[in-house]
This record gives sequence, structure tokens and C-alpha cells, in this order.
Amino acid sequence: MPGSGLILGIESSCDETAAAVVERGARTVSSVVASQIATHARYGGVVPELASREHLRAIAPVVCAALAEARIGLGDLDAIAVTSGPGLAGALLVGITYAKALAFASRLPLIAVNHLEGHIHAVLLNERESDAAPEGRAGEDRADAHGDSALALVVSGGHTHLYLARPLGGAWSYTLAGRTVDDAAGEAFDKVAKLLGLGYPGGPWIDTLARFGNPRAVPFSFAQVKPKAHLGGKPPRTKAAATAPIAPLDPRLLFSFSGIKTAVLRHVERNGLRDEALRRMSAAPVHPRPPQTRDEALRLCSQQTLDLIASFQHAVVGDLMKKTFAAAESLGARRVLVTGGVAANRELRERFAQEASTRGLRMLFPTLALSTDNAAMIAAAAWPRFLQHMFAPSDLSAEPSLALR
Ligand code: KG4
Ligand code: ZN
Repeated sequence: MPGSGLILGIESSCDETAAAVVERGARTVSSVVASQIATHARYGGVVPELASREHLRAIAPVVCAALAEARIGLGDLDAIAVTSGPGLAGALLVGITYAKALAFASRLPLIAVNHLEGHIHAVLLNERESDAAPEGRAGEDRADAHGDSALALVVSGGHTHLYLARPLGGAWSYTLAGRTVDDAAGEAFDKVAKLLGLGYPGGPWIDTLARFGNPRAVPFSFAQVKPKAHLGGKPPRTKAAATAPIAPLDPRLLFSFSGIKTAVLRHVERNGLRDEALRRMSAAPVHPRPPQTRDEALRLCSQQTLDLIASFQHAVVGDLMKKTFAAAESLGARRVLVTGGVAANRELRERFAQEASTRGLRMLFPTLALSTDNAAMIAAAAWPRFLQHMFAPSDLSAEPSLALR
């Protein structure tokens, strides 16, 4: 049974090394994130070998910093939680191996957490924190007391998945309702930014610049994904999509973002915007690099490019909205939550909030810090598992394509 209620979470599934201490899944005591963006930026995407190397460098100092910030030692913890998948195999293994060693040395139970469940719990953690009762009750399980199931859109650089999340006897159960059959939405943001000569990760750049363009200038559209092409029950063979078969899913809830990326490329070529993109890619003449500030980027973007960026973002957000609310309606969810890196997008937050209010649904987002990868969400997701003694086996290993159930 819980002693201190403190769980140390460790996350290393992609390009962030993170550790955090969370009390009873309801109060963040400390949270430390070491980002590898600077390492991967020059390649315009995450390089798996470099990610593992950087995790190896960062893991011990990051865990020490999280414990120091919480002013506790290992002996004050109830358990250690670690992301076991999905993610990059080598990157996951660094966190898992470190967490196993810590758990063994300190005789603490180890809890394996699915990264996608972590993103969902980022929102629940926020909800519990804002609900927290006074006098130190730390809001224990109060988010679950909201009772209702929630429709969750997990939208990041690696995922675009819709789940129905249900509180079930203290734990949570998840039913996959929809997903991308190719690229993740965040991946589309990153690829479009790259082809326009903007920096990595691309999402924040598109978000910033879209405010200066006309979102209706280029009429991008999304055709319904044809389920026929994916019969056979196997997960699609793309980086973003390898976590679950799609055959049983409602085709109206399938996403596809590879087409819009090609449409942007065609628009760039047809409208002579290529040279401008190349100029941006080498904004600095001596050591070529993309623009570093909003004003530098704006100076190097024609109105036509800004309109293209705004139209791209408008179309992607529109497609995410249409399918998320269709899923909420067909599954009878009264709460909608959007989480993952793309949930930081300003237009997305505004339009989802507006649509939810029109439909009388409760709309939830994580704080900006909890939208992107972090370990507080891992420690929070571990709490119901801790209460149910769902501990990891001693031979826990990385599961790069782990599905969420
Ligand atoms: O959740 P996350 O940190 O890592 C993954 O699990 O992938 O998400 C990173 C993704 C990147 O693709 C990044 O471009 C995107 O989230 N992103 C955004 C924004 N901030 C981050 N996309 C759109 N608008 C943003 N403001
Ligand atoms: Zn993530």
C-alpha cells in the first residue's frame, strides 16, 4: 500500500530525456526535461542513433535533478515508472535499463507505462491538480470522480490516434477508435516546415507564421481514407503507424497526412516558391541554417508562403476536429481531450474549444509544458497501476510498437 505516494517517472522514448516526481498521480513535485532538439535540428528530424547517445549522456543527471528538485532521495519513493513503448527501440532501452537498475538497487517496484497512456494522463494530471482539494488531500482520484469516459486525440510527431478512455475500477481502459494510416499530424507539420526551409521541429514555426497568412487562400482537402487498401488487419508499415491494426476501425475515423504534404510540395513548385524556401534554408550565409527568430522568418517569407502555411494548418486542424468530434458523438463521450506535441498549437486549441462549446462537451488540454514529451505524465499514469500492484516483470524490455489497450 502507498507510503509516501511518490512515484519517480522516467521517459526516453524519442528525443527528450525526462524525469519527474509526482504524488498520487495528482501533484507534480518536480519535472525535468532535457531536450535534444539542438542535436537533431541540423538533420531536420530525429536521428535514432544520436537520440540513444544523448539519452545515455543525460539520463543520470536528469534523474538526479528531478530528485533534487523534489528534495527527496530514492528511499522516499513508493515506485519507479518508465516508458516501455511505443518509441525508438534504442532510446526506450536507455530509460528502461536505468529504471530497472534504480529499482533493483533501491528495492522499489517498477511500473511499465505506455507512452500514449502517458499523454492522456498529462491531461488528467492537470485536471487533478486544478481540482486538488485543500489541506493536502492532493485530489486523490478526483479526476476519475468526473466519471465520464473521454474521447482522447493523441496527436504528436509519432502518433495521431483516437481512443475512448474509460475509468474502470480505479484503472483506465482504452479502446482505439481511429488512427493515421501513414504520417502522424506532427510529422506532417515537421515535413512541410522542412520543405519550406523552416527549422526543426516544424510545428511551432508553422503555428507562429500561420497567424500572418490567410487560412482560406489555398483550399486543401482530405479525401476519406479507403479502408480497402488496408484490409488484412495488419498495422500499416510506416514509422508513425505501426501500433495497431486498422481493419476493424470505422473508415470515417482514419487519418492520412501524406497527401497534404505532397499537395504543399506541388503548390510550392507550381507557384515558384522553391527559390524562396532555399533562401530561407540558408538564412545565415556562413554556416547555413534556417531562420532563428519569428522576425527573421517573417522577413524571408512572401505573403504567398504565409498564406500557404496558414492554409495548411487550417486544413490539418479542420481534419483533426472533424474526426475527433465525429468519434465523440458516435461513442457518446461527454469529454474530449487533445494531447501530445501538436496539442500546443494555438489554432487547434481555439477551434476545438469553440466546437466543444457549441456541442456542449467538456474540452480538455494539457498545459503547454505537459503537451510535449515529459515524465510527469508517465509518473501520473503509473499511479492507478501502483494501486493495483501492476508491476513490471524483471525482464521488461522495450516495445517499439506497443499498442494501448
Ligand atoms: O509529443 P511530442 O513532444 O513528441 C512525440 O511523441 O512525437 O510531439 C512533437 C511534435 C512535433 O512533430 C512538433 O512539430 C509538434 O509536436 N508540435 C507542434 C507544436 N508544438 C510541437 N505542432 C503544431 N503546433 C505546435 N505549436
Ligand atoms: Zn509523445
